[in-house]
Amino acid sequence: MNFDIDKIREKFPILSRKVGGKDLIYLDNTATSQTPAEVVNDIRFMYEHNKANVHRGVHTLSQEATDRQEHTRRRVQGWLNASSFEEIIFTRGTTESINLVASSFGDRFKDGDEIILSVMEHHANIVPWQLLQRHKDIRIRVIDINDRGELDLDQYRSLFNDRTVMASFTHISNVLGTVNPVKEMTEIAHSHGVPVLVDGAQATPHLHPDVQEIGCDFYAFSSHKMYGPAGVGILYGRKDLLESMPPYQGGGEMIKHVSFSGTTFADLPFKFEAGTPDFIDIAAFDKAFDFIEEVGIEEIERHEKELLDYTTRRLLEIPGIKIYGTAPRKAAVISFNIGEAHNYDVGFLLDKMGVAVRTGHHCAQPLMELLGVPGTVRASFAVYNTFDEADRFIEAIKRITPMLM
Ligand code: ALA
Repeated sequence: MNFDIDKIREKFPILSRKVGGKDLIYLDNTATSQTPAEVVNDIRFMYEHNKANVHRGVHTLSQEATDRQEHTRRRVQGWLNASSFEEIIFTRGTTESINLVASSFGDRFKDGDEIILSVMEHHANIVPWQLLQRHKDIRIRVIDINDRGELDLDQYRSLFNDRTVMASFTHISNVLGTVNPVKEMTEIAHSHGVPVLVDGAQATPHLHPDVQEIGCDFYAFSSHKMYGPAGVGILYGRKDLLESMPPYQGGGEMIKHVSFSGTTFADLPFKFEAGTPDFIDIAAFDKAFDFIEEVGIEEIERHEKELLDYTTRRLLEIPGIKIYGTAPRKAAVISFNIGEAHNYDVGFLLDKMGVAVRTGHHCAQPLMELLGVPGTVRASFAVYNTFDEADRFIEAIKRITPMLM
């Protein structure tokens, strides 16, 4: 597809709905992006033609549903450039993927061990590690940021010592938009023999991660932020590490043999997929890759970058606007406040004008504390957003600013 924004928008019927009588301008893509018709139609198709439990029946429906699920697994493997389909685990979302690693890989950590996280992490990459502290005396050390919202790599280097057992950081900040140098950061961790988890939830909608190039040991992300269905997450893990880890949950399909005297576990990836997976949405996730590949991830990046640069420039023309996160390598996320106005009031008034943004702490309270604010307003773009929408968003901000200052 040549980049034809009208054709792209036609695929998303939700974009033509009204909110309070106004045209919807959806700028909350960092929370979740909208889903194109091909994906929605495929979910319907699966329910009407293919609903059968996967890996559990010899009957045709079950085999077809299994083929669809496993096809998506190989699609994800190819897209991430993972070496094997066994390295791709289906979960419920990025949060569950990180919890899986913290719980299962974290099983081997000992009192006194140290984990490195960054101050810009989403709670989903903080709390799972803190849960380990209920049973083990583990220390969490935190990578700082500079004024532009970039990680301080010198300070990061200084955090390693012989007790460091894990480094886990986001690829792109959901608040600041900063694209972190994850390859370089992984190399630094590996030079100390420390494994790395990259939280890719905010990266996968905007760029194409290659796990072998990055070199990371784990990479976690969700379908719903990249035009796919909700309820599907991915955990990529290096095969030798996954093999050495105990199961995360127990249940059907993750076993080889069960008896009351003991149970043996299935091979990868099934060892980590207890219970019936969300096989319908996993199957339909494949169509989201079709959409992304049809438009082209480079085109998506280019368009979003143009929207980011344009909107940032126009927003800064308005007196009283402060933007958080000004890194040169930045995804299309703009967090800001207007003077002393409360972020919630700004979001409420924008909603009255049809503009959907996120407000609050964005599940990143430690970062808010560092920035010295209770929260921000956040506008975030996806491939279907237009310059006209950016203009209308700016006009809305200009209208509400005098009401709040
Ligand atoms: N992590 C999502 C966000 O930043 C929900 O909004």
